[in-house]
Amino acid sequence: MSEWQKSDWRSKPRVQMPDYTDAAALNAVEAQLSNFPPLVFAGEARTLKQHLGAAGRGEAFLLQGGDCAESFDQFSADGIRDTFKVMLQMAMVLTYGAKVPVVKVGRMAGQFAKPRSAPTETVDGVELPSYRGDIINELAFTPEARIPNPQKMLQAYTQAAATVNLLRAFSTGGFADMSRVHSWTLGFTDEQEVQKYSEIASRIQDSIDFMAAAGITADTTHEFSTVDFYTSHEGLLLEYEEALTRLDSTSGKWLAGSGHMIWIGDRTRQPDGAHVEFCRGVLNPIGLKCGPTTTAEDLKVLMSRLNPENEEGKLTLIARFGAGKAGEHLPRLVKAVKEEGANVTWVCDPMHGNTIKSSTGYKTRPFDSVLREVRDFFGVHKAEGTIPGGVHFEMTGQDVTECTGGVRAVTEEDLSDRYHTACDPRLNASQSLELAFLVAEELSDLRAAQSTRQAG
Ligand code: PEP
Ligand code: CO
Repeated sequence: MSEWQKSDWRSKPRVQMPDYTDAAALNAVEAQLSNFPPLVFAGEARTLKQHLGAAGRGEAFLLQGGDCAESFDQFSADGIRDTFKVMLQMAMVLTYGAKVPVVKVGRMAGQFAKPRSAPTETVDGVELPSYRGDIINELAFTPEARIPNPQKMLQAYTQAAATVNLLRAFSTGGFADMSRVHSWTLGFTDEQEVQKYSEIASRIQDSIDFMAAAGITADTTHEFSTVDFYTSHEGLLLEYEEALTRLDSTSGKWLAGSGHMIWIGDRTRQPDGAHVEFCRGVLNPIGLKCGPTTTAEDLKVLMSRLNPENEEGKLTLIARFGAGKAGEHLPRLVKAVKEEGANVTWVCDPMHGNTIKSSTGYKTRPFDSVLREVRDFFGVHKAEGTIPGGVHFEMTGQDVTECTGGVRAVTEEDLSDRYHTACDPRLNASQSLELAFLVAEELSDLRAAQSTRQAG
């Protein structure tokens, strides 16, 4: 086989990508992007791969989260800061449960292109092409807004670069204030919940106090004042991905310079399709969404194509089946992985299989379904003796009302209050933190079961 080229995907069947009408305009944008600096560096992608490898072995745990779709309109420093902050809080809670480092990866700085379930959308008898994310077209329901415009890739690049810049500053700026754990539960109102969470928060606080007494504080200890934070997005718009792909001079391998980790969506994982062809050639860690229609045969082909050297941390399998369905689908995929002796990191996305339409007409996700899918996921891995390596959420640091439920119960009627997502409904800050506490409990139980087994 001849060497992989970053343009090889062009000869493969492609789905979920726009048909740009102005080829000259598209070529000009691609040429410009090809001269821009990459947003991430090969060494960082390799380090993330090592961390994900550790998560696959149960020696770390992945927290991946952020917007369903980043938006040009809602782009702001405060928005980035708030999501970053909630993820750090969640990570601290998860670290407590997992007793291993939490690897933090944002759905940020490039999460602009969206696969859609239908190519067109009809409103009041008018049919227009679907919105496909701000990097492609516009949400407004007019014929002009829905025309794919290649210029938008330049704006996406600029926004992604500014986002990465801010994240890098936050990560080293001593932003993570570990000493305020208790105040995080102040948003909870239900008495029982407050008590439950404040117990964990108290124990975390005790550990911090103990360390402080021993002289280990943010002032003295690098680990307390800096965090590793990585970026990720769905590698959907391949013209953009190809234009940002660079040869890494150290290893002679190709780097997707658009983000540290890129994933393949549930609708674009055809083993012979364009997206798999692109992703198989880059050195970055790759995510692969696994849904109810993923067959064991396809998964085996995909694993050998996407991770031919069976590297640890190279391939993260992101399960998204829907509440109550992991038991039906996950075991066959776990078996396929075992049969191949493949190294993978199993992660749970409890969002994409749990989208429903509320009685008030909004696309939403019940918090209870999200939680149930996480529990199913842990349950199957426990039964199979395999390792739950992380979680993947659509979430924001803002106080939105997009998913129903949680301790500050968002009702179907509340959804219209602050429904801001450009695509799928996200957990708000309070729901995200609550979920972290619940996942931490699952992780604690798992640890307890493991140590009983080792002792017995
Ligand atoms: C997503 O992660 O935003 C997404 C579209 O997921 P999936 O491909 O699993 O449906
Ligand atoms: Co989504």
